[in-house]
Amino acid sequence: MNFQLTEEHLMIRQAARDFAQNDCKPGVIERDTAMTFPKEQVKKMAELGFLGMMVSPEYGGGGMDTLSYVIAMEEISKVDASCSVIMSVNNSLVCWGLEEYGSEQQKQKYLTPLAKGEKIGAFCLSEPEAGSDATSQRTTAIDKGDHYLLNGTKNWITNGGSASTYLVIAQTDTAKGHRGINVLIVERGMPGFEIAKKEDKLGIRASDTHTLIFNDVKVPKENRIGEDGFGFKFAMKTLSGGRIGIAAQALGIAAGAYELAAAYSKQRKAFGKEIINHQAVAFKLADMATEIEAARLLVYKAARLKDQGKNYDIASAMAKVFASETAMKVTTEAVQVHGGYGYVKEYHVERLMRDAKITQIYEGTSEVQRIVISRGVLA
Ligand code: CAA
Repeated sequence: MNFQLTEEHLMIRQAARDFAQNDCKPGVIERDTAMTFPKEQVKKMAELGFLGMMVSPEYGGGGMDTLSYVIAMEEISKVDASCSVIMSVNNSLVCWGLEEYGSEQQKQKYLTPLAKGEKIGAFCLSEPEAGSDATSQRTTAIDKGDHYLLNGTKNWITNGGSASTYLVIAQTDTAKGHRGINVLIVERGMPGFEIAKKEDKLGIRASDTHTLIFNDVKVPKENRIGEDGFGFKFAMKTLSGGRIGIAAQALGIAAGAYELAAAYSKQRKAFGKEIINHQAVAFKLADMATEIEAARLLVYKAARLKDQGKNYDIASAMAKVFASETAMKVTTEAVQVHGGYGYVKEYHVERLMRDAKITQIYEGTSEVQRIVISRGVLA
C-alpha cells in the first residue's frame, strides 16, 4: 500500500501544525482546568476548513481524502485533543453520514453549514443502558404519520452543549430489533429537547460532553436519514469511519507525548549526563517511537482503504485498538521520563495521559474493537 504523502498532504500537515502551535497551545492548560469550550479555536478550525475536510466542495467542504483528515487530526491531537475530538465528531460522525446517506434537501439544509463550520454537529447513540450494546436503544421515535415523537435520554454526547444539529438514533419498532431503529436529524431548540448535565471528565476536558433529554420532541419525517429501519446500519457504518479519526487522535496524543519526552530527555541531566544518554531512557524512547510508527501505519492503511472504496471495518477497528493502547502506554512512559515534572500540569504530559484514556472508550471500547476484529478475521 502506498503511503507516499503528496505536496497537498504536506501542506495540510504544516497548516495543522501551525494551527496547533499558534492557536491551540496558548491557554490549553487553562481551558483543560476550567473546562472552557475552545470557541476561538473552533472558529479558526472552520476558517481553515478543518471541520468539513472530506465533504465535497458542492456542500461547502474541502473535498479532501481521509489521509488528509488523519494527518490533520494527528497534528492537532499532539497539542489539544479537546479541539481534535470536536473536529473528529463533526467530520466523521456527522458530516460523513449526512453526505453518504442524507437526502439532497438534508444536505443543503444541514450538511452545508456543518461542513463550513458555521454550525457544529453531534452524534447521539449512547444511552445510560446502551453503550457497547448499541442495539439496546431505549430512546423511542414513534411514527405519528408526518412526524416522529422522540422520547428518551442520551449520555456522554460529545459537542452536546455546543452543537446545533444532532443525529439521534432511536427505536421505532422494538419487535424488529436493530432493523426497527432510525436516525433522525434533531435541531437545537426543538420544543421538548433539553441539553442537560455537563460531564466533569478525566480528560478532553475542554470539549463539552452532555446528557441530552428528549421529551415528546416532534421531529418531521423528512428529518429521517435513509429508509425506515436504517438507523442501526447508519450508526455502524458511520462509527467504522469515525474510528479512523479517533485512531488518528490517539496517534497524535502518543506522538505529542513522545516529542515532549524526547526533547526533555535531551536537556535534563542526571548522574552527570543528559538522561537520553542513559540506556534506561533511550530504550524507552526507542519503544515509544516504534509503537507510534506501527500505529501510524495502521491508521494510514485504514484511511487508504476508505479512500479506495474498499471495506475498512476491520482495519479501522485494528487501527483504533492499537493506536489507543499505544497512546496509553506512550503517555504513561512520557510522564515517567519527566519524573516529578511529568506529574504537574506545566509539562503537558499528564494531560496527554488523561486525554489518552478516552480513546480506548469512545466510538467503541477496545473490547468492541476486538469483537469487530475477531468476527472479521475469524469469519
Ligand atoms: N456496517 C454495516 N452494517 C453493520 C456493521 C457495519 N460496520 N456492523 C454491523 N452491521 C449490521 C449487521 O450486518 C447486522 O445487520 P443484519 O442483521 O441485517 O445482517 C446488524 O448491523 C447487527 O449487527 P451485529 O449482530 O453484529 O450487532 P451486535 O449487537 O452483535 O453489535 C457491535 C455489534 C460491534 C458490538 C456494535 O453494537 C457496536 O459497534 N457497539 C459499539 C457502539 C459504539 O461504538 N458506541 C460509541 C458511541 S458513539 C460515540 O462515542 C460518539 C462520541 O460522542 C465521541
